[in-house]
Amino acid sequence: MSERLSALASQEFPEQPQENAQLDYVVETDGVRKSILNLGVLITTSAIAHKTVATGEGLRHAVVGQASSLTITTKDKDGELVRSGSASLQAQLTAPDGGRAEAEVLDNKNGTYELVYTPRQEGDFLLSILLYGQPIKGSPFRTKALKACDVPPSPDDVKRRVKSPSSGHIRQKAVRRPSSMYGTGKKKENPIEDELIFRVGSRGREKGEFTNLQGISTSSSGRIVVADSNNQCVQVFSNEGQFRLRFGVRGRSPGQLQRPTGVTVDMNGDIIIADYDNRWVSIFSPEGKFKTKIGAGRLMGPKGVAVDRNGHIIVVDNKACCVFIFQSNGKLVTKFGSRGTAERQFAGPHFVAVNNKNEIVVTDFHNHSVKVYSADGEFLFKFGSHGEGNGQFNAPTGVAVDSNGNIIVADWGNSRIQVFDSSGSFLSYINTLADPLYGPQGLALTSDGHVVVADSGNHCFKAYRYLQ
Ligand SMILES: *[C@@H]1O[C@H](CO)[C@@H](O)[C@H](O)[C@H]1NC(C)=O
Ligand SMILES: *[C@@H]1O[C@H](CO)[C@@H](O)[C@H](O)[C@H]1NC(C)=O
Repeated sequence: MSERLSALASQEFPEQPQENAQLDYVVETDGVRKSILNLGVLITTSAIAHKTVATGEGLRHAVVGQASSLTITTKDKDGELVRSGSASLQAQLTAPDGGRAEAEVLDNKNGTYELVYTPRQEGDFLLSILLYGQPIKGSPFRTKALKACDVPPSPDDVKRRVKSPSSGHIRQKAVRRPSSMYGTGKKKENPIEDELIFRVGSRGREKGEFTNLQGISTSSSGRIVVADSNNQCVQVFSNEGQFRLRFGVRGRSPGQLQRPTGVTVDMNGDIIIADYDNRWVSIFSPEGKFKTKIGAGRLMGPKGVAVDRNGHIIVVDNKACCVFIFQSNGKLVTKFGSRGTAERQFAGPHFVAVNNKNEIVVTDFHNHSVKVYSADGEFLFKFGSHGEGNGQFNAPTGVAVDSNGNIIVADWGNSRIQVFDSSGSFLSYINTLADPLYGPQGLALTSDGHVVVADSGNHCFKAYRYLQ
């Protein structure tokens, strides 16, 4: 009996529709006139709602009185792009007062559709997109309509184009393509472009190669600094992805790194590295010369590290489940947190960022949330829960805050990057569709306004366009 039940339990039953109900007949009267044999064509598509995705600025905001657009890409049951048009797509926009607004769908005839809508009033709208009467992935979406005067000037270049790495970039050798939230990862059959600008690295031990990247940080002087934890070193690149410098490599120097995890750059350009196995934080000059270490004897397993507006060094102790705040000379200012699920507790804190109000933003990996504290450690608020929906996490890791206070979070288990406003309301995803992430770790904003992320499972880091 038990064997039979196990056998039955291991069978997979389809839980989602595998096809839709469309099978139309279009009469071709001209053809009939010409030839009685030519009666027309049958139209059907293999598009499936729960695999079909929407991308674009119009998903997160719009301007009152101006047309906002987004792209819908229909996919079949295996997540492959459908290449023909004529699918039945409906979009409905529910206005703040409950009224309906119009949205128009344009068929590109290649499996993608343009959805255009024009909000007539400000506020939060609910945008529901139905394919054959079923909501597409992520629908309904929440979108915000702003008055024209409240909108910050938008970057003029909103074209999505993947630049091929120029000769100066270090090219990847092999690419592991995991399944992402969007299903398929096969680039050849999936020509959808995303917000990727470049990727650097492959698995290895040489310069520009990585084994288990963890933290990533940037400097105001246009550098990208990466903690290459299993190679026990830190590598420095330009904002364009050009290799500059590597230090900490195996040896017996006083600054030998054991397992660099978090990394940050202070106002002087000094590189501050949390070392999980050494259980301290090392400080190196911009040229990679070891200067000093702090936190020895106090830290149990440091991971995330950040510098606040007072020059204090904030260290997340992943093992001890707490946050330390040090002066730059290593003197302890304060510490808060312990293991648990209460507000001032952590189930597995990983990375940390500081916002424009000098507040401390910590990702809690095992609590699937992001927690925000005042500069002296008072709990302010948290957001996120366990799941795959908008604003939900499966183990958040890297975190960064932009100049408007928006919070960007790497969602490790869901292999995606989410953007939230300063109060923790979900805004959007960074489109990583064409070259999916695999277990992203650290994340930072470059001085030229791009998002860089340590794509740990793919042994590379990637730079993305980020529209504010
Ligand atoms: C589909 O057609 C539109 C409009 O012609 C075009 O912009 C888009 O790149 C095409 N997409 C694919 C996947 O061919
Ligand atoms: C996360 O923390 C909340 C309290 O803030 C708690 O209710 C919840 O059970 C925790 N979840 C996990 C998965 O630890």
